Amino acid sequence: MSNYHIKNLEEYFNVYRKSINDPEGFWEEVAEEHFLWRRRWDNVLSWDFSKPEVKWFDGAQLNITENCIDRHLATKADQTAILFEPNNPEAEAEPISYQELHDRVNQMANVLKSKGIQKGDRVCIYLPMIPELAISVLACARIGAVHSVVFAGFSSSALAARINDSECKLVITSDGSYRGSKTIDLKGIVDEALETCKCVENVLVTNRIDSEITMKEGRDEWLQPLLDMASKECKAEIMNAEDPLFILYTSGSTGSPKGMVHTCGGYMVYTAYTFKNVFQYKEGDVYWCTADIGWITGHSYIVYGPLANGATTVMFEGVPSYPDFGRFWEIVEKHKVNQFYTAPTAIRALAKENLDFVDRYDLSSLKVLGTVGEPINEEAWHWYNDNVGKQSCPIVDTWWQTETGGVMISPIPFSTPTIPTFATLPIPGIQPALMDENGKEIKGNQVEGRLCVKFPWPSMARTIWGNHERYRETYFSAYENMYFTGDGARRDAVGYYRITGRVDDVIIVSGHNLGTAPIEDAINEHPAVAESAIVGFPHEIKGNALYGYVTLKETGADRDQENLKKEINQLITEHIGPIAKLDKIQFTVGLPKTRSGKIMRRILRKIAHNDFSNLGDTSTLLNPEVVDSIIESRL
Ligand code: PRX
Repeated sequence: MSNYHIKNLEEYFNVYRKSINDPEGFWEEVAEEHFLWRRRWDNVLSWDFSKPEVKWFDGAQLNITENCIDRHLATKADQTAILFEPNNPEAEAEPISYQELHDRVNQMANVLKSKGIQKGDRVCIYLPMIPELAISVLACARIGAVHSVVFAGFSSSALAARINDSECKLVITSDGSYRGSKTIDLKGIVDEALETCKCVENVLVTNRIDSEITMKEGRDEWLQPLLDMASKECKAEIMNAEDPLFILYTSGSTGSPKGMVHTCGGYMVYTAYTFKNVFQYKEGDVYWCTADIGWITGHSYIVYGPLANGATTVMFEGVPSYPDFGRFWEIVEKHKVNQFYTAPTAIRALAKENLDFVDRYDLSSLKVLGTVGEPINEEAWHWYNDNVGKQSCPIVDTWWQTETGGVMISPIPFSTPTIPTFATLPIPGIQPALMDENGKEIKGNQVEGRLCVKFPWPSMARTIWGNHERYRETYFSAYENMYFTGDGARRDAVGYYRITGRVDDVIIVSGHNLGTAPIEDAINEHPAVAESAIVGFPHEIKGNALYGYVTLKETGADRDQENLKKEINQLITEHIGPIAKLDKIQFTVGLPKTRSGKIMRRILRKIAHNDFSNLGDTSTLLNPEVVDSIIESRL
């Protein structure tokens, strides 16, 4: 039996048991057998959730880039590490071999050093999905600089807040970016942001769109000439396992974004381990995660996890709708993608379109399909399973968070039987717990509660940059000796987990707790419905009642709306019960979404409350224009 690579369900249960009975022994074995360490650890784990303080492999020395690049050179120098697919479908894809990646990362690392960047300094990376993004991330890791990637769709004020919070000394950006048929002036956004950032000394600019930009004398420089002069050798900085590797910001339910800090050793071990098992990656496979490296999914499962396994990872610059809604499937056919990982929101958007966009392409290379980021509704799951996977690719519904660093609950494909909407079983080493409102653990099956984790795992965030107390308060104060995820979950009769959504989205109607996700699932099953979101609004008798925002598919546009409302409530009654019926249903042109595709319920809640003050900064939304249209036609 291999701890590292699970091949069937019996093995999963054996490995899981071992990982719980002897977590330190389990992770020590994984760490020892599959990674390159410069010095062995003194101690596998020490932890105290009350502080909170967690240390994995303390005393060990390593550099994650030696694990992601150098050690593969003996056997895989010519194998493609990163396969870059540009926005323009007519442009050639660019395969970057492990040798080339080595050379380019080292050149970038040497450029950073020449600008005075040292171990521990923070570097902000604000780039589109082009090879320089992955290369910059790895170059920081090479020299021990802490990278803070900011998604290149964030506004200048969001960028400035993140740069200032972690006092970045240097920014890596590009003149601009392509997004479908549009271009975006990234350098202009950086210039605006830097008006309020005193800490930034240098800006390095890569040329992506050949646009005219202004360069600030003494601060800004084109990257390419510096790279051309730089050496392809750069000694890897020796890091302690517990040294910070990166900061990644995630929005809290209140307050400023939280800079989650991940460290070198545990993060490497866990992302590599989960990549191998959750995607069942085999030598020679081509793996594609459609996320942006600006999010944790991209950090862990485009860059670090795949490269630590010597994989070929696709990096896509574009969007699923350009030049048409067949783009994802065209890329799958072209590169013979074996594992495909995307978000339910993308699946729903594509499911709205003509099936011909899928059927046109040969998808027979696909072996495993993944989803992440939100609960996947049953209809989207079936659409993905039937039309993309042709009912022969297991779907891994992976539950995790920016804070967890890696996948926590997920089927192991070909081992764990899947059920739509269930993330199923914990990854070895993960000890989930469901808690009730009184702080007591709910044992047994067929129960529902707040999802916590009761034992540390290697890739958990160690702190919030500059605010350890907020870290303690947010994640470790709700339940004693537990990491609190903020999510609710159900454990079914066989112990499978189904994530029901953020617990802050629970609505109490006539004394009944109703999760929004299951109601939305029911509505989304209606053939005319594309997407929906439920919020609560005050009701005289029930306390709260439910307000549903529903976006119709094109095919639903001509339907009688009063009949549709009745049918939707009938579906809810069938799936959950009459208690969950909606008092108000508003048909909308779209739902306000964050750049990562999450529905902004806060805004919808305010509109349902007829409270239009303080809608917050809607300019960071993916689609700010829908907010006005929803307000105009509110009920
Ligand atoms: O509510 C859960 C939801 O996304 C949250 C984490 O968001 P973020 O930090 O942006 O990371 C997303 C990518 C890992 C969780 O607290 N979530 C994530 N995956 C799932 C999910 N909800 C249900 N099912 C999932 N598979």
